[in-house]
Amino acid sequence: MSERPVLLPYAEPAFVADPFPLYRRLREDGPVRRVVIAGGLDAWIVTRYEDGLEALSDPRLSSDVRDASDTRLLAQLPDRERESMLSNMLRSDPPDHTRLRRLVSKAFTARRVAEMRPRIEALTDQLLDKVVPAGRADLVADFALPLPVTVISELLGVPVDDRHDFQRWTDRMIMRGAEPPDPAVVNEAWQHMRAYVTELIRAKRAHPGDDLLSGLITARDEEQRLTEDELIAMVFLLLAAGYITTVNLIAGGIAMLLAHPGQLELLRSDPELLAGAIEEFLRYDGPVSPGIARFAREDVEIAGVAIPRGATVLIASAIADRDPARFPDPDRLDVTRQDNAHLAFGHGIHYCLGAPLARLEGHIAIGAALRRLPGIALAVAPDEIRWRPGGLRGPLSLPVTFTP
Ligand code: HEM
Repeated sequence: MSERPVLLPYAEPAFVADPFPLYRRLREDGPVRRVVIAGGLDAWIVTRYEDGLEALSDPRLSSDVRDASDTRLLAQLPDRERESMLSNMLRSDPPDHTRLRRLVSKAFTARRVAEMRPRIEALTDQLLDKVVPAGRADLVADFALPLPVTVISELLGVPVDDRHDFQRWTDRMIMRGAEPPDPAVVNEAWQHMRAYVTELIRAKRAHPGDDLLSGLITARDEEQRLTEDELIAMVFLLLAAGYITTVNLIAGGIAMLLAHPGQLELLRSDPELLAGAIEEFLRYDGPVSPGIARFAREDVEIAGVAIPRGATVLIASAIADRDPARFPDPDRLDVTRQDNAHLAFGHGIHYCLGAPLARLEGHIAIGAALRRLPGIALAVAPDEIRWRPGGLRGPLSLPVTFTP
């Protein structure tokens, strides 16, 4: 392609608040377009649904950053750190990916997750009990954030009181602006995280329990099924992946309903619609936005466009999920929508391991909020809601009022 790359203006407040006008233009421009993404990196963006589906199952597109020719951010980190940070399933290809995913997949099946329902309901009620009497709350800090953090911490068997530390370090490691994060800051956060997780593993080795981390330690120590670096990277991935996106689904879903009062009323009058509504929130404005990165292991062609080896390919699930060729009237939020196989959880071998858990948490949390916060309304003007810039989308805070 000869056109100049389009900048995804992550630092621009108008784009952060509503990226969809630009998303739409990109999709209408053509199936594959060169863009400059977070961190100033060049990428080829894939914007249509059918192409996205195909690209996500194409083995020539790697998840391993080491296959990228432009590794500016990673190149600045010491080798040792880079290796251990990347030793997780999300950033691996088969056969390592298959081995790592198999170690934990049983803990995330629909059946195992369904067993967590009573605990998630109890936690949801406890959090709402605290805010209901006040008649106002920040639904991110008071509700949407502590719920998934507690759930994933308990599943892994790590002390939930530590969450402020790992949240802070995780935050520093995520790209959030137009500039690449300062490598020194990322490196320091990773050192802290590594030391923290190493200590957790040490304590758990001394006092094993009936939890996922103890199971992983057995797989490491008795069966040599993963290295110590891989164990540390796994714990970090599950902790981070286990809450950041789910916060955005819960708070983002509630924000979408507040912006669409007709849909809110519809859901209130028929709670059976909630499961479909969760899928619609994910399609309409999913937490991973614009999408999922891959790296071309060889020269490839997508929708007739030649993409060179080493290129970053951004499979824009959030743009594809509004492709009118796949979803009728795609810019309309419709909680009754049928045939809604969106790409918000990805597709193919890396399909989100936590999808059943995220769906259950979203269902319980949003359902309880609608039941227990009558008259819920934004406490600020809609354009005063601040959204998280770059890569992972959702409100940073959601101040609301309701009838106590
Ligand atoms: C992978 C989205 C919640 C754990 C993914 C991928 C997406 C995604 C798009 C695919 C990435 C790729 O192909 O490169 C989401 C969304 C969530 C959510 C939108 C919430 C609404 C969770 C939760 C967990 C989790 C609660 C729990 C631990 C993972 C893991 C992977 C993954 C471990 C890597 C899977 C692999 O590489 O095989 N997620 N996720 N996610 N997700 Fe989620």
